[in-house]
Amino acid sequence: MQQTDIGKKAAGEKAASYIKSGMTVGLGTGSTAYYTIMRIGEMVKAGLEIRAVATSQQSAQLAVEQAIPLVDFDQVEKIDIDIDGADEADTQLQLIKGGGGALLREKIIAAASKEMLVVIDEQKLVKHLGKFPLPVEVTTFGWELTFKHLVALGAHPVLRLKDNNRFVTDNGNYILDCHYQKIHNAPALHTQLNNIPGVVENGLFLDYASRLIIGYHDGTVREITHPYPAKTSF
Ligand code: 5RP
Repeated sequence: MQQTDIGKKAAGEKAASYIKSGMTVGLGTGSTAYYTIMRIGEMVKAGLEIRAVATSQQSAQLAVEQAIPLVDFDQVEKIDIDIDGADEADTQLQLIKGGGGALLREKIIAAASKEMLVVIDEQKLVKHLGKFPLPVEVTTFGWELTFKHLVALGAHPVLRLKDNNRFVTDNGNYILDCHYQKIHNAPALHTQLNNIPGVVENGLFLDYASRLIIGYHDGTVREITHPYPAKTSF
């Protein structure tokens, strides 16, 4: 196993230890959340009783393979705990997500969760957000104009491709990866991006995470917690 995978596994598995029987759990997407889902699968086999909602088709498929009971999001009032990865996180638990293209469902599920736990390996802990290109999900209709808006705002967007074709999200949209290098005012940027017609959502997750679990190459973990300002009032 590579060193980053040791960190991802340590963080992913540690997060699963916060799950208790009776909870509704949000399953994140990506190679770190993978380890959480695999661990939850083991816990379910050992008797843990939960129900889960998935942030992507990829995670839903993994959950089914692991016999984790899945429910549709429309059958869920509130999620007790959401466990997801991130592409960058700072010590204030502000995040860039969407490297795997699942940012929209990830944000909807994070916003419906009482707690969001974020699992990363040590390389993703940064002083300033922005080196990782910020994913912006846009409608396919009129995406060229949305692209021009982003260029005018200095976002340096690049249309995401997969196997030489346009990458299409689970929601049927495109992703424009925006190259900032350093994000100076994340809340202002978040508002600016989401105000552009055609932008569905962007990958800045501000004030969502309540616990950041960082896995290190020696298999240890460090946790940073933050008071969670509830995103929902229902
Ligand atoms: C998917 C995400 C992922 O959580 C993020 O890309 C991290 O993935 P990985 O753990 O594979 O590095 O936001 O949309």
